[in-house]
Amino acid sequence: MDYLQINGGAKLHGNVAVSGSKNAALPILAATILAKNSVRIANLPRVADVRTFLKLIELLGGSCAHCEGEVVVSADRLCGTTATYEIVKTMRASILTLGPLLARFGECRVSLPGGCAIGARPVDLHLKAMEKMGAMIEIAEGYIHAKAPKGLNGTTIVFDKSTVTGSENVIMAAALARGKTRIVHCAKEPEVVQLCEILTQSGVEIEGIGTSELEIDGSGGELLELPPISVIPDRIEAGTYLCAIAMTKSRATVSNMEPKHIVAVTDKLTEMGFDLQIQSDSITISPTERINPIEIVTSEYPGFPTDMQAQFMALAACAEGGSIIEERLFENRFMHVGELVRMGAKIALKGNTASITGMAFLNGADVMATDLRASSALVIAGLGAKGQTRIHRIYHLDRGYERLEEKLGGIGADIARLKE
Ligand code: UD1
Repeated sequence: MDYLQINGGAKLHGNVAVSGSKNAALPILAATILAKNSVRIANLPRVADVRTFLKLIELLGGSCAHCEGEVVVSADRLCGTTATYEIVKTMRASILTLGPLLARFGECRVSLPGGCAIGARPVDLHLKAMEKMGAMIEIAEGYIHAKAPKGLNGTTIVFDKSTVTGSENVIMAAALARGKTRIVHCAKEPEVVQLCEILTQSGVEIEGIGTSELEIDGSGGELLELPPISVIPDRIEAGTYLCAIAMTKSRATVSNMEPKHIVAVTDKLTEMGFDLQIQSDSITISPTERINPIEIVTSEYPGFPTDMQAQFMALAACAEGGSIIEERLFENRFMHVGELVRMGAKIALKGNTASITGMAFLNGADVMATDLRASSALVIAGLGAKGQTRIHRIYHLDRGYERLEEKLGGIGADIARLKE
């Protein structure tokens, strides 16, 4: 197993480029199930979750070819309808095949994702929506078995909670359904918007893109002709690198990004005292003498993303005063707290709120990655700590960050991937 070794204290400089968004790439790959053509996808991030999704498409009978930096996905001859436990257990986002497989084949089996490190993460809202569109759902032997032999019908779906992959599943199902589907309280994340834009370019009429209420006019079962796609930049990767530069009191640029997708994050960095020069597709961040404490409450887009909470906690540990971080989306997304405390952070947890005392002097230590974003918080802490940090179980990081150690090494970090 690999681990990361970081010698803290190195200043970062220069420019780090952001890769394509993992969370945009996964629904795009799922949407190829709706296509009758081979789909060219550029800027697909080289991360484990994307590789797993490509493998899933191949297991379903599709093919994936790499060509001049792009991936061409052909799902026209797809015949399989089962997303197996072996795949789903490594990647919950496999649930994204539910809507498109059901809409295309009138039947599918998707292994039911279990709970995960950050919470129970049920998929009840996905299932209720499919039922409302006419599917019969049975859970047996750990699998969701969905059937809609006469196809799916447009209807009104009112989500109790804003769910990102739930909205994406319904959007893809609705694109092939008969008639109009109205989605109320739909997620508005940029990744959801890109999915909608791709579908409109394929001829599906969608009203309300980027708002919480969509109306989608389905093709009535006819497969779509998807356009060539370039995956949007990863806003969480961009935010993570900004935090890394901030933590090391350095001046450097994060490029190939979409600043308008991370306003909630850049606003917090400004509040903490950092100077940000925001250009059309890059941000240069400069250090501050004194890191101000902050208050963060995670919420749906355009609010502060839960996927950036852990990285800000590492930074807040070094602020000159007490900060508060309240996690509103997931019930157990504080696994990084214990590891940050091992490095010298002073953090008290009460329910879904973390109180960070600040003024910590972080020291390198052996720490354990527990989930994807918790792992990146440990990298940030390690970069700012005195001495050596070894982060174990970095397969979590590899799920969502492309060549993290190479990219950080490229801007001056002393970081290496080693074998246990
Ligand atoms: C997606 C992102 C993940 C991010 C999260 C929140 C992908 C692949 N993953 O995850 O990185 O952290 O959004 O921004 O895009 N819920 C239910 N029932 C459901 C579905 C969701 O109760 O059927 C709850 C969840 O437990 C959670 C909340 O709704 O409390 C939001 O979750 P959701 O937006 O669905 O997260 P994911 O789509 O799984």
